[in-house]
Amino acid sequence: AGPEVFTATGRLTDVPPTAWAQGGEYLTTAQGLRLTDTDHSLKAGPRGPVLLQDHHLREKIMHFDHERIPERVVHARGAAAHGVFRAYGTATTVTRAAFLAKDVETPVFVRFSTVLGSRGSADTVRDTRGFATKFYTGEGVFDLVGNNIPVFFIQDAIKFPDVIHAGKPHPDREIPQAQSAHDTFWDFVSLHTEATHHTLWNMSDRGIARSFRMMEGFGVHTFRLVDAKGATTLVKFHWKPKAGVHSLTWEEAQLINGMDPDFHRRDLADAIEAGAYPQWELGIQTFPDTPEQTFQGIDLLDPTKIVPEELAPVQPIGLLTLNANPVNFFAETEQVAFHPGHLVPGIDITDDPLLAGRLFSYLDTQITRLGGPNFAQIPINRPHAPINDMLRDGFHQDAVHSGVAPYKPNSLDGGCPFFAGQSEGGYRETPVRVPAAEKVREAPASYADHFSQPRLFWLSLTPVEREHVIAAYTFELGKVYEQAIKERALRTLAEIDSYLCEQVAQGLGLPAPKPVNSLPSVEPSPALSQLGRTWPTT
Ligand code: HEM
Repeated sequence: AGPEVFTATGRLTDVPPTAWAQGGEYLTTAQGLRLTDTDHSLKAGPRGPVLLQDHHLREKIMHFDHERIPERVVHARGAAAHGVFRAYGTATTVTRAAFLAKDVETPVFVRFSTVLGSRGSADTVRDTRGFATKFYTGEGVFDLVGNNIPVFFIQDAIKFPDVIHAGKPHPDREIPQAQSAHDTFWDFVSLHTEATHHTLWNMSDRGIARSFRMMEGFGVHTFRLVDAKGATTLVKFHWKPKAGVHSLTWEEAQLINGMDPDFHRRDLADAIEAGAYPQWELGIQTFPDTPEQTFQGIDLLDPTKIVPEELAPVQPIGLLTLNANPVNFFAETEQVAFHPGHLVPGIDITDDPLLAGRLFSYLDTQITRLGGPNFAQIPINRPHAPINDMLRDGFHQDAVHSGVAPYKPNSLDGGCPFFAGQSEGGYRETPVRVPAAEKVREAPASYADHFSQPRLFWLSLTPVEREHVIAAYTFELGKVYEQAIKERALRTLAEIDSYLCEQVAQGLGLPAPKPVNSLPSVEPSPALSQLGRTWPTT
């Protein structure tokens, strides 16, 4: 059977592979004309000028000229795999999502990525990693577009262009973070202190994952689950790798970047090819859906905050197994289009302002990246559910729609089923009460706490992990040219922990700012003073 295409009725069907793929017995033009020679241009004599009438030459070169599409504006470098998700059924108490019912198996496509590097950048850089999963459920596509770090740099999507501009290469020299752009990144995160928590995770070993197979994944935002009776529960999604969480050391990461910049994508593909299928358990932390949308004082709508697992344990709800590599990187890994707004009945969003901006951004960027509004028809993006969307025409329209009335209500194409009760079983937005309030741009007061959770994270680390954090800050800030930026970054560290701040200041050869945190500082263990720091700090 060949690839599926849309027919005149808008349904999917099989066509012989030779109709679309490059598998025929003879070489042909794109029009199916059999060729005799694809190695030489048509010329006026063997040494004469090439003739404009050589359609095959022009078609072949024209197509090559247009082979590239824009890389993703962020998360450009990635690797992906197909797999299956089997639900344990434990989530049915809180959601009516059909794919989460016991033993339901759902095909998935997962793309892992770095955030800042370009498509050809190295794998083992210090960065956040994307962990995006497309569930092809019988009720439509559900995308869980998460990261391997549970918090984000910003609390409001309107800051996203700023944080990315600060982190991407400088516009003049286009040299990535490893060299000149350190000033912009550290300038931004020291001025915009809500980034402190995410930055600290990046400077920890979590920023240099050993393998995609050994990373946790987080939905980051709080989502709202809805059960069969309409009762709601707030949740955070977690992926827990069966292989455990492992990181590289900084020296390993540097060496591997030089020796094998494709280390992570090779590791994923090799493991799957060898039958060592990577697995993750999906879990949820659940919180009562109260009007405040807080849990034990933590604002659930603030994406710079976690809820510690000691306060809300992660409850496993299913198992993900990646068991097949993509056949074609461009067709699958490059053209897949995730969107946090791809939801199914039983899963809804919350009012996290970071999530709100994402709901606009992904569809918008994909219209440019994938050449128009019809990219849901690209095979990797096609839902495994019947489509009847009333959309028509546009660039790259593959479907041949029949009928005359792609509008509702209408009395021509079989009446108005939409208004005749067919919406039963359809997606309904949860009727959440919106507070009567004035239009404002200001953030809630709870968003002003930028340091208590970074400190919590710092305290949770082992002594060796803390040494790695100190070394990472020292190395990265050592690349900053502007002294004022280094000093401001040190003041941020003083808010987290005085020992951390002093050690980094010492490494940079700068005075440590006065401790601002009244809590006792964390002293190193005696064993660590012998460990030393072996890598260069500037
Ligand atoms: C891409 C995660 C915040 C805009 C991605 C990808 C992931 C991701 C995993 C790569 C998807 C893939 O593999 O194709 C996250 C997480 C966020 C976050 C976890 C915060 C919790 C934002 C925000 C914006 C944004 C706030 C914009 C307002 C984008 C865009 C892409 C992207 C434009 C490229 C999409 C494409 O070209 O298909 N994000 N992101 N992200 N993200 Fe985010």
